[in-house]
Amino acid sequence: MTELGPVAWPPAPIKTERLVLRESEAQDRAAVIELNASPQVNTYLGGPRAHAELERTVPEVPGQCPGWFVVELDGAMIGTVQLKPHTPERRHNRRLEAGTTELGYLFLPEAWGRGYATEACTAALDWFAGALPGQPVVLYTQTANARSMRLAAKLGFTELERFEAYGAEQWFGVWSSVTPVE
Ligand SMILES: CC(C)(COP(=O)(O)OP(=O)(O)OC[C@H]1O[C@@H](n2cnc3c(N)ncnc32)[C@H](O)[C@@H]1OP(=O)(O)O)[C@@H](O)C(=O)NCCC(=O)NCCS
Repeated sequence: MTELGPVAWPPAPIKTERLVLRESEAQDRAAVIELNASPQVNTYLGGPRAHAELERTVPEVPGQCPGWFVVELDGAMIGTVQLKPHTPERRHNRRLEAGTTELGYLFLPEAWGRGYATEACTAALDWFAGALPGQPVVLYTQTANARSMRLAAKLGFTELERFEAYGAEQWFGVWSSVTPVE
């Protein structure tokens, strides 16, 4: 289909203890709309989008791009984990010197507080480490987003910088499958 750097996308579905990570399908459209329309999910992401607008604009099969995993529990989508490769146009950003793949995660509120995001992100990062050994992954999140900050720490991201943007303090961190030699 398409590529994530030199890696063919999509991989075979990834199974964890409780979840499956797979490429998106048409059946995920309603849950993708729900994610983007949810005030709770979008509190720290610029606010929810209008349901009617999403119904008009979300493609029949949403999220068809390399690194965009649907997270499924018992056959239903509960969230997404994205490993987004940065396009050359975005490479002017000096923070991209730290890494050119960015992790993102969005879960439906009813799936919060059960460790699903940790389980899914760990599996996605393991897959990434196997596909592109040693390549770092970066992450942006608002410091006020306590759940996201806890998740970033559990996954092993370390802080590189805090900065102000969009009227809030932002956290910028990096993860690598290779432990630096002291
Ligand atoms: C950020 C987000 C993914 C975190 O979700 P989450 O469910 O809190 O994250 P985890 O999967 O790590 O779950 C951790 C919680 O599950 C609990 N838990 C319950 N059962 C567990 C289990 N079997 N294993 C691990 N943790 C478990 C943990 O104790 C922890 O509880 P706590 O929040 O009270 O400390 C979620 O809040 C979200 O989608 N937010 C909106 C989108 C967003 O802001 N994304 C960030 C931008 S990149």
